Amino acid sequence: MINKSALITGASGGLGADLARQLAGRGYDVVLVARSVEPMESLADEIRRNHGVTATLLPTDLSIAGSAKVLAERLAAEGIEPDLLVNNAGFGLSEPFLDHDPERLRMMLQLNIVSLTELTHFIGRDMRRRGRGHILLVASVAGYMPDPLLAAYGASKAYVLSLGVALNVELAPQVGVTVLSPGYMETGFSAASGFKASPSLRRGALKSDDVAKIGLDALFAGRSSVVAGRINAFGALATRLISRHALARQVFRISGGGQK
Ligand SMILES: NC(=O)c1ccc[n+]([C@@H]2O[C@H](COP(=O)([O-])OP(=O)(O)OC[C@H]3O[C@@H](n4cnc5c(N)ncnc54)[C@H](OP(=O)(O)O)[C@@H]3O)[C@@H](O)[C@H]2O)c1
Repeated sequence: MINKSALITGASGGLGADLARQLAGRGYDVVLVARSVEPMESLADEIRRNHGVTATLLPTDLSIAGSAKVLAERLAAEGIEPDLLVNNAGFGLSEPFLDHDPERLRMMLQLNIVSLTELTHFIGRDMRRRGRGHILLVASVAGYMPDPLLAAYGASKAYVLSLGVALNVELAPQVGVTVLSPGYMETGFSAASGFKASPSLRRGALKSDDVAKIGLDALFAGRSSVVAGRINAFGALATRLISRHALARQVFRISGGGQK
């Protein structure tokens, strides 16, 4: 019997590596996508050894314009038709908006928004043709609120949340789409994004392994979106109770905005 296959972006570490391990544990052949080859090679070896599925590397820089199309063409050339797509690769810019380096800002928007959308579009079309498929989009609790000092990152995740919840309705029942919104996790994210987590955020952090399970369970249960962790879920819900302006001011205060 031929295994189903799953393509995971951002699979060189953090949440993406855990999603790849767990999908392999559920019997999927995995296709790993990120820039760093070495960590993906050792993950692929581990996955083959532990789960007896195939693990293919397609190193790609998804912050380059047009890279999603090139990736889709490489998949077609290799005869890989993913049954499941995880759009997980992403990073943030944690600093005042006007201090962002313009090229880093462009790269973040290309990765978090454009490549994610294009991959969903290319691979979603194949899934529609075959009449089945699953797509998991990784957003963030930051997507539930305006985020001064993480403004463009938060807005990119609000886009992911809105796109995914809309597609869950539009592509059903053939293609299942779910948005996973993690809160803070101890991964490579902080270093990549210049994000300094407060001690309380660190204390409440969920393990990326647990967050991966929450996301996949929600995906296979057909849920539209899931916020990982009860406290994060409560926080996301509470954002509906106050105005977006008041919320932005509160997030600014908590993030140390205005303090010198
Ligand atoms: N950690 C958190 O606190 C947190 C909270 C909420 C949401 N999230 C979201 O969770 C997702 C996973 O992040 P993480 O926490 O696992 O962080 P991470 O450990 O930094 O992992 C990010 C992954 O994205 C890949 N990536 C980065 N730039 C890329 C590019 N240009 N092209 C292709 N792949 C690229 C990285 O691999 P390479 O560097 O090898 O390319 C890595 O595999 C992200 O979307 C993030 O925004 C994280």
